[in-house]
Amino acid sequence: MRRISCKGWIGAGVLASTLFMASCTHEVKVEEVSLLPLPGEIQQTEGVFVLKNNAKIGFSDPSLEPAAGYLAEMLSRATGYSLTAVSGKGDISLQNGKTGEKVGAYTLRIADNQIEIKGNGYSGVISGIETLRQLFPPQIESKEEVGGIDWAVPNVSITDVPRYEWRGLMLDVSRHFYDKEEVKEFLDLMSLYKMNKFHWHLTDDQGWRVEIKKYPLLTEKGAWRTFNKHDRGCMEKAKSEDNPDYEIDVKKLRVEKGDTLYGGFYTQADIKEIVSYAAVRGIDVIPEIDMPGHMLAAVGNYEGLACNEKVGWGATFSSPMCPGKDKAINFCKDVYKEIFDLFPYKYVHIGGDEVDKTNWEKCPDCQKRMRVNHLKSEAELQSWFNHEMEAFFNANGKEMIGWDEIIEGGLSETSTVMWWRSWSKDASKKATAHGNKVIYTPNAPFYLDYQQDKKSIVNIYNYNPELEGMTDAQKELIMGVQGNIWCEWIPSRERMQYMAAPRMLAIAELGWTNPNQKDWEGFKKRLSNQFKRLNVMNINYRIPDLEGFNNNNVFIGEGVVALTCLDPSAEIHYTTDGSMPTLDSPKYEDTIRVKETTDFTFRLFRANGKKSDFVKTRYVKGVYSPAVQVAPSTPGLKAVWHEYRGDSCDKIAGKVNGTYRIEDVVIPKGVKGNIGLLINGYIKVPKDDIYTFVLLSDDGSVLRIDNELVIDNDGPHAPREIVCEKAMKAGYHPIEVRYFDHNGGTLQLKVFASDGKLIPFTNLYAH
Ligand code: ACM
Ligand code: ZN
Repeated sequence: MRRISCKGWIGAGVLASTLFMASCTHEVKVEEVSLLPLPGEIQQTEGVFVLKNNAKIGFSDPSLEPAAGYLAEMLSRATGYSLTAVSGKGDISLQNGKTGEKVGAYTLRIADNQIEIKGNGYSGVISGIETLRQLFPPQIESKEEVGGIDWAVPNVSITDVPRYEWRGLMLDVSRHFYDKEEVKEFLDLMSLYKMNKFHWHLTDDQGWRVEIKKYPLLTEKGAWRTFNKHDRGCMEKAKSEDNPDYEIDVKKLRVEKGDTLYGGFYTQADIKEIVSYAAVRGIDVIPEIDMPGHMLAAVGNYEGLACNEKVGWGATFSSPMCPGKDKAINFCKDVYKEIFDLFPYKYVHIGGDEVDKTNWEKCPDCQKRMRVNHLKSEAELQSWFNHEMEAFFNANGKEMIGWDEIIEGGLSETSTVMWWRSWSKDASKKATAHGNKVIYTPNAPFYLDYQQDKKSIVNIYNYNPELEGMTDAQKELIMGVQGNIWCEWIPSRERMQYMAAPRMLAIAELGWTNPNQKDWEGFKKRLSNQFKRLNVMNINYRIPDLEGFNNNNVFIGEGVVALTCLDPSAEIHYTTDGSMPTLDSPKYEDTIRVKETTDFTFRLFRANGKKSDFVKTRYVKGVYSPAVQVAPSTPGLKAVWHEYRGDSCDKIAGKVNGTYRIEDVVIPKGVKGNIGLLINGYIKVPKDDIYTFVLLSDDGSVLRIDNELVIDNDGPHAPREIVCEKAMKAGYHPIEVRYFDHNGGTLQLKVFASDGKLIPFTNLYAH
């Protein structure tokens, strides 16, 4: 908080050369300017705007009246002021105007006790409003009146423009259901960060969530289920992880004929209410009715939609609808016809992912459709279905989006590809080379249901959608970025928010801010400033990982534990006996000194006392492990590739496929498929020191030095980095890395001295 008084001014914050003067009877406090996403240009000038009761919010054009009403409501709840929207000029004035080439661009000028927001289109005005919202003290987010606050903002001049037109979040309401109020709260959070596309995954195997008048069973039956394996899994996690956010929300249960059913759906009136709530906030809603796969909730409740009546689960996916039957095609069109009327936007998402086509191979209707249309494969049959549906979309004035599987079997000219399969590396290049638009949501790192760790925010922040080798014309076809929240393991509002935030803030900035302004340290500071606001909004965000230590730390003599946390409102409590810290456990205040080997468990608590993550780390009182006498001959490490199908490094055995000399801890060229890799050699360290080893792998790996297990990163897993230390005397030390994977993984080891210098791997020698 910056304090501005008439007696002088308090030094530079984010912006230098600042002098604020306010009424001499009162010191006016304003916040440090800290905006997320970062705007294009900001100039802060002397003075402040103080919001007063009965202030008027003017709008230049009737289309902006909802925006003025939205701003009036936003600023009146916490202040208790009565603010009115008026046509024409006001204390705050909203105008439509050309403020840049792109829709969504805006200017915001605060000077002479006036605020002017000029937006390129309605969404530009909303972007300006959201910037203004972030200039007010965080308490402005309170739903109740708050006293003792200066409702003031600093004088600024901001010119801003979005990088991408699509800054989205997808919510899966099928696997677990979120009611109208929960969706609105989610939209409020999106709008705060200028996210403008709400992709609503409304149907899937586990539940149909949108009323379709022509087919009432879709929601009468298809919206309800007895507990499935994920529900039971969540309930188990609630207990085993002592985490109530995994409890199944009782609001989503009903008892019918003695059975407890989970579910819920939106009536068409609910949908219209949410769509207009989003529209006021500048957010388009993109419905997804996933087809032809992921349709069990439909094909299980209406006869004649699937290839045969034996619908259920195949090896991985469910029985799809039958594209060979006109009845099924008409059903799909009927459903979309009602959907088109509910969502007044250009884009509609057809899904199209993960279709089990084995039924199509056996189905006479599907095979006939293929013969008649000269289709050579079932993949082409899906394309035929996509094209048939797309023609229907286009005839109704809509454009189709599909998951990147729609590329297979032939892409139509006008569909937009939503790229999700990171491993299908060429998807966005192929689609853009074909002239199709692409929305980026590659599962790593954009799937927000994936667990979070130290890297999840920075991996999003640093993501570069402009892939190497793309032409300028291809880059032009990148519409933007989106985070997806799949909800099999997310049964509550609390868990959903925890998975979404704060990662979604990095997506917001990636989608909005000019990449020339990229500055990770600056972003972290602005992110840190957002937590206070999120707390006032009662958003159950995840406190980012504690920093300042490794999985395992070594000290000689006495060690010092010095933690850092990006969230200044978080409390850290800890134990050293392996038990789970509570609010009554010792509180971490400054640093902790350790004289003996100690196992710490740190747990973070939100400002409202709610438990967040815990982390375990060991501080080991070390001794320098002695070097060995060797006279290595051949430079490099020796790698032996075994044909190994198991999932434990210490069990690697089997036929030897090859032996390689490598200069780095990597998967040697040509090694693929069933990999069991044994890497041996020596590391030469230049001085007696504590060295840090960073081992990244997908799947498992282990590192031994001097025959001692230093890093255990074993077992099947996605890319995971483990960092441990070891005290070592200058000279040679034997090193062994073991690694396994079966589908094309990652392996990397980096070694640092205590001064942060990378130890080059030219110091490694084979036997
Ligand atoms: C997807 O994750 N199946 C789009
Ligand atoms: Zn069929």
